[in-house]
Amino acid sequence: MPSVGKTIPHDSAVGHVTGTAPYIDDLEMLRDELHVSFVGSPVACGTLDLVDSSAATEIDGVVAVFTVDDVGSHNLWGPLFRDEPFLADKRLMYVGQPVVVIAAESPKALAKARRAVEINATAEPPILEIQDAIDSKKFIGLRRQIARGDAETAIRNAAHQLSGQFQIGGQEQFYLESQAAIAYPGEENQLIIHSSTQNPTEIQAVVAEVLGLSNHQVVCICKRMGGAFGGKETQAALPALMVALVALKTGRAARVVYSKDDDMCVTGKRHEYLAIWSVGFSSEGVIEGSKFDFYSNGGAAADLSTSVMERAMLHADNGYFFPNVELNGQVCFTNLPPNTAFRGFGGPQAVAAIENVIQRIAEHLNVDAIEVRRRNLYGVEDRNVTPYGQIFTRNLLPGIFDQLEESSDYKNRRLQVTRANQIDNMVLRGLALTPVKFGIAFTSKFLNQGNALVNVYTDGTVQVSTGGTEMGQGLNTKIRQLVADELGVPYRDVIVMPTSTEKNNNTSPTAASAGTDINGAAAANACRKIRARLADYAADLFTSNEEGLVKSPEHVVFAEGIVSDSRRTDKQISFGKLVNQARRDRIDLGARGFYVTPGVDFNRNTGRGNPFLYFTQGAAVAEVAIDRFTGELTVPRVDLLIDIGKSINPGVDMGQITGGFIQGMGWVTAECLVYNEQGHLLSHSPTTYKIPATTDFPSVFNCELFENDENLHNIRRSKAVGEPPLLLGVAVWAAVKDALSFVESEVDPQLCLPATGEEILRCLTDSGKSIK
Ligand code: MTE
Ligand code: HPA
Ligand code: MOS
Repeated sequence: MPSVGKTIPHDSAVGHVTGTAPYIDDLEMLRDELHVSFVGSPVACGTLDLVDSSAATEIDGVVAVFTVDDVGSHNLWGPLFRDEPFLADKRLMYVGQPVVVIAAESPKALAKARRAVEINATAEPPILEIQDAIDSKKFIGLRRQIARGDAETAIRNAAHQLSGQFQIGGQEQFYLESQAAIAYPGEENQLIIHSSTQNPTEIQAVVAEVLGLSNHQVVCICKRMGGAFGGKETQAALPALMVALVALKTGRAARVVYSKDDDMCVTGKRHEYLAIWSVGFSSEGVIEGSKFDFYSNGGAAADLSTSVMERAMLHADNGYFFPNVELNGQVCFTNLPPNTAFRGFGGPQAVAAIENVIQRIAEHLNVDAIEVRRRNLYGVEDRNVTPYGQIFTRNLLPGIFDQLEESSDYKNRRLQVTRANQIDNMVLRGLALTPVKFGIAFTSKFLNQGNALVNVYTDGTVQVSTGGTEMGQGLNTKIRQLVADELGVPYRDVIVMPTSTEKNNNTSPTAASAGTDINGAAAANACRKIRARLADYAADLFTSNEEGLVKSPEHVVFAEGIVSDSRRTDKQISFGKLVNQARRDRIDLGARGFYVTPGVDFNRNTGRGNPFLYFTQGAAVAEVAIDRFTGELTVPRVDLLIDIGKSINPGVDMGQITGGFIQGMGWVTAECLVYNEQGHLLSHSPTTYKIPATTDFPSVFNCELFENDENLHNIRRSKAVGEPPLLLGVAVWAAVKDALSFVESEVDPQLCLPATGEEILRCLTDSGKSIK
């Protein structure tokens, strides 16, 4: 039985639910291992006057206290630009920015020492908001543009114009395992680092560079993460640096595990965005010209912000054709922790921006927004070129719209919602359908590569290692399925080994949803090399002493643990026996595979090219019910329809779709980052930051996969699934916007994102309470 296409439980499912799957802090303490933590900046902006750690060093059990003076000349790091200090120098740039690293024999001594460190700083007024950064021209990187035609003229000449400003909030990744790392020294000045990271290669490189080592002296290992969601694509680096510094200086093993509060306070999040937009459209709602100025809140260093902005700009069209368009993007500098990757990587913010515009157009023309969406949808034969010049081939959106409109009973429910809103003055209802078209590939071309190592042992079992990291998404399970099928062995005979830079070098982060695409393809490539050798060997075996049967490796079949000659049923041998024999005949039973994503190329300067290999597509219908007196929101029903090609593991993928959607719903309805004027995060724990609970789950939740086995571009005709469903959460926001459109008002209440209870109540209050 082939493994691919089957719902096989996540390979750590039992470990996850029984608590036996080890995360960083579950690893046994090593001999003489030190506990590590840090003390951060007390101010969001200012200068560091004095660090007094004398009281801390005197505490019993405190082994060392380090500052930037212990780091040397390579204190700056960064994934795109080297602009982020490991430990703060003179300049303090955000609250909690690490200043001091402490190592102690026990957690108790460590906690005491943290309180005993004295940091004096001169505070300056921080810049926290996008608008303040714009006003004081504090930017990161250059303003970017992607444009086609003449947007301004097209807007002006259109029958209708609308414009506005749309505020889009950030989001905490809220992985369950906080940032964590363990380091220990090896021979020849080596460091071995266990890190909860999406990007072991970057940990290796950053640790080496900052601490003055060479790459071959650093090994980074990641068995699994307890969630990452983009938050560990770059930001696992600081904790890894902390323990690496301690291990190098003290010669002892060291471990850091951020508390949840520390993690929420000092690590970057999804970027808050401001979209300043204008649009011109026909009386049918067809967009003729559109212009978006995107500003993002980058925080105090670049991190991945400019890449996130790029992906945002590449998703401003969502599923719609923009004949004349101008997209501008500028990252703003603020005194907050550097914002970073979060599932969707700028895509969700841009999609929210255009879906807000669509809702506004529908309100203006007094038509159902689904009509506006249909009229602007990309065409199949024409109207199919994106603003950046990539032709949108295999556009499935029209079919997805038709099928979902039908299966969700959209038309009837639209009537019901309208009727209910006319008679019910307690509950306000809303309904919306939003699409998604998510581009798959890293927009930085060089990251679209992966390698894999496959080792076959003499009993026929297999170990596979890739640069991909497991964060709960099921990458290892899928790679295991792919390898099992390539070698024609049972799933249980394959194990995916911990990710380590020792086995797989120069790897890309597991990100951009392309983990399976890239690492799965590399693993398959390695398997094919081994299979080719074995096919040749088996072909010899099958034809030796056999008159009339010509040697033919092409006829050697690998399936169900048996290797056979398809021409002769009696010619067969078990995979285990074959490889055992092959080894005795000195056949190489290991291989390294390599894969590069074909055809992707994007020119940043011209804003033109083919950044994506293909698009994962889908749509969601969400219905909301709002308590008109409290603003409280419930979601009675959601219907999702998503095209992920031929699923490698439908069960795992359903998990990704469900989780991604709910995470998106949380972003658009509940999760709120609140800072005080000094730049301290007030919503820094689960008690003050509201993520969706089980009780927030839609009462009816239908999720279906769209039939599509035509994605020839990708491994086993599958499509990436990790991020796209999050963008479907926008349907819930759009449904709230739809609900509010039933309320009589002079001015548009400008619903912000997230549409929290408070925000909805504000809109209801601002706009009066009578139903149109
Ligand atoms: N699913 C779980 N359970 N945990 C995670 O941290 N991260 C998401 C998504 N799904 C995440 C997840 C993000 S941001 C990405 S980019 C992809 O998984 C990465 O994995 P993949 O490329 O293997 O899909
Ligand atoms: N997506 C996610 N992560 C990334 C990307 C991207 O396009 N580019 C660099 N890191
Ligand atoms: Mo995902 S935001 O690309 O790690």
